[in-house]
Order: sequence, then structure tokens, then C-alpha cells
Amino acid sequence: MSLYISVVSSGPRRVTGTRVISVTSMGPPDPILGVSEAFKKDSNPKKMNLGVGAYRDDQGKPFVLSCVRKAEAIISAKQLDKEYLGIGGLAEFTKCCAQLALGNDNEVLKSGRSITVQTISGTGSLRIGGNFLSRFHAGPRDVYLPKPSWGNHTPIFRDAGMQLKAYRYYDPSTCGFDFKGALDDISKIPEQSVIMLHACAHNPTGVDPRPEQWKEISDLVKKRNLLVFFDMAYQGFASGDIDRDAWAVRYFIEQGHNILLSQSFAKNMGLYGERVGGFTVVCGDVDEAKRVESQLKILIRPIYSNPPMNGARIASTILSTPDLRSLWLEEVHGMANRIIKMREQLVAGLQKEGSTHNWQHVIDQIGMFCFTGLKPDQVERLTKEFSVYMTKDGRISMAGVTSGNVGYLAHGIHAVTK
Ligand SMILES: Cc1ncc(COP(=O)(O)O)c(C=O)c1O
Repeated sequence: MSLYISVVSSGPRRVTGTRVISVTSMGPPDPILGVSEAFKKDSNPKKMNLGVGAYRDDQGKPFVLSCVRKAEAIISAKQLDKEYLGIGGLAEFTKCCAQLALGNDNEVLKSGRSITVQTISGTGSLRIGGNFLSRFHAGPRDVYLPKPSWGNHTPIFRDAGMQLKAYRYYDPSTCGFDFKGALDDISKIPEQSVIMLHACAHNPTGVDPRPEQWKEISDLVKKRNLLVFFDMAYQGFASGDIDRDAWAVRYFIEQGHNILLSQSFAKNMGLYGERVGGFTVVCGDVDEAKRVESQLKILIRPIYSNPPMNGARIASTILSTPDLRSLWLEEVHGMANRIIKMREQLVAGLQKEGSTHNWQHVIDQIGMFCFTGLKPDQVERLTKEFSVYMTKDGRISMAGVTSGNVGYLAHGIHAVTK
């Protein structure tokens, strides 16, 4: 009797003795996700998680936008197949994505001198951007981040093989933008380095330059011949107006900067777990855009081959269906407004508690986050005594504040700051 399965040689010998992979120490927990872990274990019914940047409705519940539910119904009715997307993603999506950021009439889009690929949300976009720079940027390998910046920027670019430097951005004495410090530092950045700019709703500080300040930054960046990388994770979420929030990106392009741009639809469409985003490179001409596209595909293919389709279908359906698009604009506006209202109520609550500190920055800062100015020991007390969870730098996600808990938060903050 012959065997159908014939294994005639033994596999490679098992390695015994010293392991080839050697992990000898635990890594530190992620500073933001670590906060959520501690929150989950707390049994205080009044506990608040202000660490993670995800929008909640006024009942404190995760919020799925109605335009998303409607788009899902349209997509489901079409009974579409689930074949692989191309390496660069869903074409309808990348077109809408670039138009949303740059504006439909942008000369760059009309002339075809840019390329947008669909990415795994904003993080994936930044990483593809980092890998692209690491492979093709001819200038210094330094990426200059605002100080402070989103915590994940550093590991994203470092793991992509770039080096991180910083320019001054936040002034703790005013809880506002350190315009002079930023200009001073940017004026010393070596030519052709990469500078990261948050397009709107700066994370973690909630502090953005004003248009006239953006203009000076643009002039200086041009003088220094720097390559601009815009991270736009909150378009629409800052002011409630998608065009206003994209102003800096469009202005820089108008001024002749051939920017790199990262976009995320996590926050403004509430598509967090769908992982939908875009990476755009504005090029000198159509031919360069084609060359860049081919190289981006070569970069992406061995990492994740091609991006997931569901979120891209949802986002492109919303953006290209007039009724859904109007509904989305209303809903983005609604989310941004609820946050603005919570900022005002928090300050009113602090005044009612008798706080004599100046809390105006809580109202002036915009977007999802507020850099309260609380010191690490005050944060620790707020967590220990009031079960209010946040990162040590004093950042709170305003999206986790509701009419129901804003009074409690004001009470806690006043108790640890009086
Ligand atoms: C500044 C900034 N960039 C990018 C992202 C990327 O988020 P995601 O990967 O969820 O799109 C975030 C999310 O918090 C962010 O705050």
C-alpha cells in the first residue's frame, strides 16, 4: 500500500539552547491606551476617561454618524463583491479624499500633478509617508516636529528610519501658541529638512496658528527651502467647517509648497475602527506624480498589499452623494459645536466652584483636545481622588465631557488646583 502523503525528509532541526529571538524585558505600556486600561479597572460610577481621543455624544456613548449608517445601507443594497482593491486603494475614494483636502477647484488636482493613495487611516498614512521619505528624500533625514506633538509621530518616523528634531510650538506660560519661538527655531532648521505641521486642531495642545501667523510660517519655510508634511487628522472637527479647517493646507499649496499630506477619516466621519485615510504627494508635474505613484505602490505592496475597502466605500459614498454629504457637514458641525459648548461649560463650572485661575485657554483652544495646564501631580490627584483619567501632560479629550459630567470635572479640577 503506498502512502498519498509522503514525507521523506525531516524539517530543519529545532534550535535548542540559546534562542534566536530574545525578548528579555517588558516594554512600557502605551501612554494613552494605558490610561484606558486603568480606567476599565476603576469601579467608581463617576469615573471619566478623558485620555483617548474618540468622540462621544452628550450621553457619553460612542457616536455613529447617521450619514455613515445611510451610506452603509446604500453599499449593502448594491451587493458589491469583496475582491482586492488595487495597491493604491479605491479610486473613487482617493479622488474624493484629495478634493476634500485641497478643494475641488485646486489647480494641483486639475493639472494632475499630485497623487493620493488610500491608507490605513492617519497612522498608516504617516508611516507610508515616513517610509517614502526614508527612501526618497534627498535632503537631511531629519523630521522637525512641533513641541509637543502627537505622541505617535516620533515612533512612526523613527521606525521608518527618519530622525526626529523639534521646534518650539506651545508656550506653557500662556497655554497658547509660541509664535516667536516657532519662527526662531524654524529659521534655524537646515535647508531641505522635513517639517511636520498639524493642519488644524493641533494634538495635544488644541492651539493653532492664526491665518496671518500661518502666512509668516509659509514665507519662512519657503525661505529655508523645507519640505512640508501636513498632518490633517481633524478636518472639520476644529471649527465645524471643512473648508476653514483646510485653509492652511490650501494656502501653502497656493504659495508653491509641494507638500506631503496625511488625512484621516477616523474623527470627522467617526470611522475610527474602519481605518480609512489618504496620503497625498503634491509633485512638480504630471510625470513626477506618475513616478511617485509607482514608487508608493512598490512601498505599500510588501507592507499590507492593498488597503481595506469598507471604510473607503463608506467615505466615498458620503462625499459623492449630495444628500449624504450635506448631512455629514451638519453632523461634523454638530460634533464640533458640542465640544465648543463643553469648553464653555467647563470654564463656567470652574468659576462657579470659585476658581480664581484664568481658564480662558480652555475656550480659546480648539478641536478635540484641551491642554489644561494641570501639572503631573495635579493629574495624579485628579485620577486618584476623582477617578478622572487623562494623560500626565494634562491633556483632556473634550469629546469625553458631557452636560452630565462637566460639573463633576470642574469640581475635581478646582479641588486639585486651588
Ligand atoms: C495628530 C494626529 N495625527 C494622526 C492621527 C491618526 O489617527 P488614526 O490612525 O486613527 O487615523 C491622530 C489620532 O489621534 C492624531 O491625533
